[in-house]
Amino acid sequence: REKLPQYNSVDDAVALLRRSRRIVVLSGAGISVSCGIPDFRSKDGIYATLMREGKYDLADPQEMFDKEYFMSDPACFFSFAHRIFPSNFTPSPTHRFIKLLEERDVLLRDYTQNIDTLEQQAGITRVLNCHGSFAEASCTNPLCGYSVAGSAIKEDIFAQRVPYCPRCHAPAPPKAKAKAKGKSKGGWNDNDSDSDEAERDARPAGWGVLKPDIVFFGEKLSDKFDRCLFEDRESVDLVIIVGTALKVAPVSELIGHMPHSVPVLLINRTPVLHIQSDIQLLGDADVIVQYLCQRLGWTLPAAPTGTV
Ligand code: OAD
Repeated sequence: REKLPQYNSVDDAVALLRRSRRIVVLSGAGISVSCGIPDFRSKDGIYATLMREGKYDLADPQEMFDKEYFMSDPACFFSFAHRIFPSNFTPSPTHRFIKLLEERDVLLRDYTQNIDTLEQQAGITRVLNCHGSFAEASCTNPLCGYSVAGSAIKEDIFAQRVPYCPRCHAPAPPKAKAKAKGKSKGGWNDNDSDSDEAERDARPAGWGVLKPDIVFFGEKLSDKFDRCLFEDRESVDLVIIVGTALKVAPVSELIGHMPHSVPVLLINRTPVLHIQSDIQLLGDADVIVQYLCQRLGWTLPAAPTGTV
């Protein structure tokens, strides 16, 4: 993707913001750092902290969000989840900037990779939580389909307990006892054959657990992501990438789906070298968006109070 050097200054960023009517925002963990939520890959981020603490039995910190690892040891994730569960955080000026774009009716969509639901708290409605969120939790048995609001497992999360699906999870009976009585016990059914029991024993530890609807590594994004890209590419006139290292596909490939002529504005603390942006504003996102607003004569909406 060749970029012509037609835009390159803060003045150009201001002019683009003034004229654009269909803005796609792609945001990541960097926009919630000032709210007190660490990002993933910075030196004080979640991954470095996990490795430094060495509390969890992980060969690679990304395993904390890996579906296969979760299925083998769900207790590991639930001993950690309380640390990232959305609680008393207030949206940052950058969240409020995105809300302001929506209020000005120029936000086509906010594709966020964040799971902290601060977009919802900021009142942004044209948002797609590409990596899901804690708003709901679902049974890991794909044939079960049981789903609850995230608040229903909040107590388990803070007690660092694995929440089980009430519909399909029941622990296998102790073998010796069940055999001695000539039938199985424990909520499956009384006609269990040895092969049923063997199948049950072969199930991973994470089977029948209520897992928050966060997209883990090894899981697919919702089809809505593809549908939105398909729709938005027709009319987008500016892409703003903010607070993300863009290391995780398919979200990292978003700009490849947008028309090549659409300008890309990057606002990030560190450069993102593997993408071709037209303007890079490097620094603290909150400081940058507040400066842009000042130049544009725009006022950020007030910080909301309370949690969603
Ligand atoms: P990363 O931690 O990979 O990247 C955050 C980016 O934000 C870095 O480039 C930082 O330099 C930048 N940053 C940090 N603080 C900032 C600030 N105050 N102002 C501006 N920029 C700042 O986080 P993401 O790119 O969001 O996925 O990570 C993407 C995905 O990787 C996450 O959704 C998560 C993770 O594995 C899953 O868990 C599935």
